[in-house]
Amino acid sequence: MKFFVDTADIDAIRELHELGMVDGVTTNPSLIMKSGRDIKEVTKEICELIPGPVSAETVALDAEGMIAEGRELAKIGDNIAIKVPLTWAGLQACKVLTGEGRMVNVTLCFSANQALLAAKAGATFISPFVGRLDDINIDGMDLIAEIRQVYDNYDFSTEILTASIRSANHMKEAALIGADVATAPPNVIKAMANHVLTDKGLDAFMADWAKTGQSII
Ligand code: G3P
Repeated sequence: MKFFVDTADIDAIRELHELGMVDGVTTNPSLIMKSGRDIKEVTKEICELIPGPVSAETVALDAEGMIAEGRELAKIGDNIAIKVPLTWAGLQACKVLTGEGRMVNVTLCFSANQALLAAKAGATFISPFVGRLDDINIDGMDLIAEIRQVYDNYDFSTEILTASIRSANHMKEAALIGADVATAPPNVIKAMANHVLTDKGLDAFMADWAKTGQSII
């Protein structure tokens, strides 16, 4: 499973990238707002740092506007994936932009039917939001499993990009289901390293080592 980082925080992206944990980056208007940076400047910096797909989101609500914004965002770097919302206008924009050979990430997906439409419209990535479904007491991971089945039934090449990931457990479940990509905030990716038994075992080893009175260097 590919790891995308869901942030526009350059330092956080760099730290994970140095460890080989970043296959791509996703941003959205809320993350750009949080970064306090200019969208084109920060997205360009990310594109130069990370060779993989970097999603940058359009904000127009009509297809024509999304297409124009998408073309503008694509000028930032060859690795830009233009993000459009899963609306009818977004699907129209997806069809046109992928027809021009650009990567398109269709976002704000909450049903298998929406994902089916995005695949038919040629989306490079579909972004189902698991955390926001969990928020309304619908198991977000069930949606990932449904989309996996639908796409496999018909050999769609659209990649399932599990989004709105809130926990390390979401990462594990996405990997078990066979999502192509998971995008997560940096703290969630780092939390995957944690285990209470690792901490406990390390404490015990350190206590015993201290009793030996030895040093390695
Ligand atoms: O990947 C989409 C993400 O940025 C949304 O996450 O936690 O706001 O639902 P969240």
